[in-house]
Amino acid sequence: METVRIALMGGGTVGSAFAELLPLHRMRFEALGLEVELAKVLVRDPSKSRPGIPSRLLTDNPAGFLDDVDVLVEVAGGTTLAGDVVLQALERGLPVVTANKALLAERWDELRPHAEEGNLYYEASVMAGTPILGALQSLWGNQTLEVHGIVNGTCSYLIRRMEEGATYEEAFQEANKLGYLEADPNLDVGGIDSAHKITVLGRLTVDPGLSWEKVLRRTRGIQHLTPQMLRQARAEGYAIKLVASLYPEQGQWVAAVRPVRLPESHPLVTMGSGRNAMIYKGDPVGPLVFAGAGAGGGVTASAVLGDLYRALLGTPGHLPIPAAVPVPAQAIERLEEV
Ligand code: NAP
Ligand code: HSE
Repeated sequence: METVRIALMGGGTVGSAFAELLPLHRMRFEALGLEVELAKVLVRDPSKSRPGIPSRLLTDNPAGFLDDVDVLVEVAGGTTLAGDVVLQALERGLPVVTANKALLAERWDELRPHAEEGNLYYEASVMAGTPILGALQSLWGNQTLEVHGIVNGTCSYLIRRMEEGATYEEAFQEANKLGYLEADPNLDVGGIDSAHKITVLGRLTVDPGLSWEKVLRRTRGIQHLTPQMLRQARAEGYAIKLVASLYPEQGQWVAAVRPVRLPESHPLVTMGSGRNAMIYKGDPVGPLVFAGAGAGGGVTASAVLGDLYRALLGTPGHLPIPAAVPVPAQAIERLEEV
C-alpha cells in the first residue's frame, strides 16, 4: 500500500467538509493501492475546533507546511498567501487541487505554465460540485459561439428568496448559514466572484490569455436590485438574474457580468433559480444546458475530492485551451441589462 500525504490549506466551510468526506473513501483508495491520509491543515487560528479535523493536524505556520507531503489541497481563498503556497507546491512538482477562483483569475500569468503541464486541478472553482470544467474541455471539438451562466450561488439564492418575499437582510443571513458567502461577501454581490469564474471558464474555452482586468471592467453586481424590482419583473413574466457571459463583440471575445432581464421560460430561469446554471452554444453540438448546486461546503468538497482522484490516478488537471479560438461574426443572444 502506497501512502499519500495531503496538505490541506484551509479548514473552513469547504476544508472541514473535505476532511469529513475523505475517510468515507478509504476503501476506494485502498482498492487503488493507496492509503490517503490528511497530514497537516493550515489555518489562521489553530485553537478553533473544526468538524472532521483532529486538532493535532492544525498549524498556523506556513513554513515547512509542504515538507513531506504528496498533494496540496488549497481551500483557504485569497490571492496572496494561498497563491504563494500554491506556487511553491507547483514548483516542487506537487499536484495542486484548488477551489480558489480568485487566485486562478488574478494570478494566472504565474499559474498558467503549471496548468498547461496538467498539475493544477480546479473543478470546484466554478459551479462547485456541478462539473462544468470537465464538460467544457470535452467540448473542444466544437466552435464555441457563446456561453451564459448563473455562476454565483449567493446572488442566485438572494434573488430567489427576495422574489419569494424575504428581505435582503433575511436572505443574506440564510445564505451565510448555508456556507455560500465568500469571506468578503462584496465579492459575491458586487459580481466579482462571477467575474473570477467566467475568466476561468473563458481561458478553458475560448482564449488561454483572457485578461482578468478586461473582465473586471465589464462587471456589475446586484447591489442596486430591490425586492420590488424583482417582483415587478416577475409580475411582467420576466426574471432578473446575475449572468456571466462569454460572447463575440467587434471581432473580440468579451467576458462580462451584469444583471439581466430574462423571459420566465428562459432555461437560465427555469433551471437556475436559487442555484447555478449555464448554457453553452457551440457548432456543431448546438445549445447545451448544465445546472446544479454551485456553492456550499459538502457540494464543493465533492468536487475537490473528485479532483484528488484524478490527481492520484495520474489524469492531467484542467488545461487551458491551447490557442484562442476564432471569434464568431456576432452574438446569437442579446441579453437586456438591468
Ligand atoms: P472559509 O470558510 O472562510 O474558510 C477559509 C479557511 O482558510 C479557514 O479555515 C481559514 O482559517 C483559512 N485561511 C484563510 N486565510 C488564511 C491564511 N492567510 N493563513 C492560513 N489559513 C487561512 O472559506 P470557504 O467557504 O471554505 O472557501 C474556501 C475557498 O473555496 C475559497 O477560495 C472560496 O472561494 C472557494 N469556494 C468556496 C465555495 C463555498 O461554497 N463555500 C464554493 C466553491 C469555492 P480560520 O478558520 O482559522 O480563519
Ligand atoms: N460565494 C460563492 C458563491 C461560493 O456564492 O457562488 C461558490 O463559489
